[in-house]
Amino acid sequence: MAAKLFEPIEVRGLRMPNRIVVAPMIQFSAEEGVAGDRHLMHLGQYTASGAALTLTESCYVASNARNARSCLSLYTDEQEAAVGRIAEFFNAHSEGFFGVQLAHAGRKASAREPFKGGGYLPVEEGGYEAFAPSAVPLADDFPAPTPIPGCDPTIR
Ligand SMILES: Cc1cc2nc3c(=O)[nH]c(=O)nc-3n(C[C@H](O)[C@H](O)[C@H](O)COP(=O)(O)O)c2cc1C
Repeated sequence: MAAKLFEPIEVRGLRMPNRIVVAPMIQFSAEEGVAGDRHLMHLGQYTASGAALTLTESCYVASNARNARSCLSLYTDEQEAAVGRIAEFFNAHSEGFFGVQLAHAGRKASAREPFKGGGYLPVEEGGYEAFAPSAVPLADDFPAPTPIPGCDPTIR
């Protein structure tokens, strides 16, 4: 059977020129959640190379939903404009699609970047309160998150 990697495919009405999809790859390099040149270069290189669909890394929907302070985010106008700049690059320079992986870290919020040692980042050091469906902490060195009323506590 011939490989179909370079054949078009339609997924939920999206007609993609081939079947190459770039998975989300978190960079921990967004200053205050704003996508920078690194994000444009990182994502742009894949679409310019012909990938049919390139996904952003986890893109956080609120400041206290971020896994770490340097995570890509989409809750301010500045962040929206920065992600929009990447979308414009896709439109201008490729036939590939751009996907944004919306995310909420839940009890994983307020972590230190892995290259800074990982683990919990306390509020006194710039961390923030975590919200999650239940008050079950991520690990022994993380405080219990504040449960969100109405959430299913079996979801963690
Ligand atoms: C450096 C790195 C960053 C990642 N960041 C994310 C992420 O932001 N969101 C996500 O859902 N998965 C993330 N993943 C998981 C990948 O998207 C992918 O699902 C995983 O590597 C398994 O795919 P593979 O078997 O092709 O390697 C990351 C993986 C790596 C290696």
